[in-house]
Amino acid sequence: MTLLALVLALSLAGLGARGAAGLWDEPAILRRACPDYVSYASTPHPPYSGGSLNLPFQRPALECRTFNSSVVEQVIEDVTSRMVDKDLAQLFRNAFPNTLDTTIRWHVDGSTGEARKSKNQNAQWEGPQSFIVTGDINAEWLRDSTNQLANYQILAKRDQRLSSLILGAINTQAEFVIQSPYCNAFQPPPPSNIPPTNNGQDDQVHPAYEPSVVFECKYELDSLANFLALATDFYENTGSTDFLTSRWYTALDTLLQVLDAQSQPTFDDEGQYVTNQYTFQRTTTLGTETLNLAGVGNPLNSGTGLIRSAFRPSDDSTIMGFFIPANAMMSVQLQRTAAMLRSAGGRSDLADNLESRGRRLRQAIQDHAIVNHPKYGDVYAFEVDGYGSRILMDDANVPSLLALPILGFVDQDDTVYQNTRKMVLSKDGNPYYLTGSAFHGIGGPHIGLENAWPMSLLVQAMTSDSDDEITRCINLVRNSSLLGLIHESIDVNNIRAYTRPWFAWANSVFAQTILKIAAERPHLIFGEGADPYNP
Ligand SMILES: *[C@@H]1O[C@H](CO)[C@@H](O)[C@H](O)[C@H]1NC(C)=O
Ligand SMILES: *[C@@H]1O[C@H](CO)[C@@H](O)[C@H](O)[C@H]1NC(C)=O
Repeated sequence: MTLLALVLALSLAGLGARGAAGLWDEPAILRRACPDYVSYASTPHPPYSGGSLNLPFQRPALECRTFNSSVVEQVIEDVTSRMVDKDLAQLFRNAFPNTLDTTIRWHVDGSTGEARKSKNQNAQWEGPQSFIVTGDINAEWLRDSTNQLANYQILAKRDQRLSSLILGAINTQAEFVIQSPYCNAFQPPPPSNIPPTNNGQDDQVHPAYEPSVVFECKYELDSLANFLALATDFYENTGSTDFLTSRWYTALDTLLQVLDAQSQPTFDDEGQYVTNQYTFQRTTTLGTETLNLAGVGNPLNSGTGLIRSAFRPSDDSTIMGFFIPANAMMSVQLQRTAAMLRSAGGRSDLADNLESRGRRLRQAIQDHAIVNHPKYGDVYAFEVDGYGSRILMDDANVPSLLALPILGFVDQDDTVYQNTRKMVLSKDGNPYYLTGSAFHGIGGPHIGLENAWPMSLLVQAMTSDSDDEITRCINLVRNSSLLGLIHESIDVNNIRAYTRPWFAWANSVFAQTILKIAAERPHLIFGEGADPYNP
């Protein structure tokens, strides 16, 4: 039994963190002194905005913040001092730093301590490392953490510590991908000495995983695309290739093996059934939390060139495994990774391989995922099975069909995208477009049919060409964020009923939206005639 497995067993046996020999004295002291952010975020705190909604100030006290950056503070000051709407400004003030303030559970810059100083960053856990939790759950999701940090990528060049934080996050994700490439959420790294938690389920998963490393093992294609995105984004913003260690290359190789395995159809060339390498079963009454057909999922045809995803970015199971938004994101990221390797002088055969994989995947989407809708014309399907069946809908989580231009897959004015956008933003085109007396937007099966997600309104704003539409989306999010932070979902008939007080990803998406408006349509938030703002 590893030390961490022992620690897990001890915590499960009801022994608190302090019972086990002071292994993590410092975090324990910090936790005692600072309030739990779930409860802190659930009640309003002064100073209030002074706007018509009088939104509260929800940043933790200075000494309780999990990371500081003066460059980030400067952006907050620059933006909020110019914003006309005091409530929107308060939301930005709380949301932009939320990931740094509350979710950096562990970071080492690689110069001291556990990740020892070493010229050779080729061993496990060497170099900078960062463990970034999703918010109210003490685990790191690959997708969430990439998106949580996306906000700060543009600032990394000007702030060495921020740069080290993101580099650390890439290194840590690489370790996770090497260890368990099929999994979506991970435990604190062993060198952090933070005890793992148990997700309370009894999942039967193949390939098997180590519960002291993995928090949950739902195979989501977009988790792997987000691993690539974290690095390509970092490279595009900083020009740094410090993450190109042999560990990162090993992670990339592991990822490609998963893509190959998950490109296999359900029946081989002779028509024989072949079990997929990945299966997942959970004892549950929720259909979206387990997979059909003994954990394999519904049959998928051969010859599409698409890659299966067992679960969606909502962590709900797919109905048809060829989940298009994640395939689109993966095709973009394979090509960006190829371009990055070429300009960084990496292996050219590897770059060629990634480039052709990305191009083939893009073609597979054009060939198998564009379908004709009687009202909206040619649209992208949400999921297909290669037999001609398709699911037409969208889910609020990103990657989504609505987000395709933000992911870099299509131009915003692409005709098929525009048709798709009209479809997924309408009640008759998308079963998960949810409306009520108080709120509306795209939701999804994850929370249910009466809850729409602010994140979908933010993506709608970021993919719109209309000042009026952007303003309506932003104001509706503002109106439904009465605790000064962006929630996961809102009851469409009661703006005060929400899920998740502390959901860092949604706050990052809000900040990204405001920064995009500040750069491209400054008059919408800074007033008529205002100059654009770029951090
Ligand atoms: C952030 O700054 C405050 C005030 O200077 C300090 O108390 C706190 O320890 C710092 N936090 C981190 C994680 O550096
Ligand atoms: C937001 O709430 C205000 C009242 O506080 C209301 O006038 C406005 O129409 C609402 N905006 C949206 C988009 O719901």
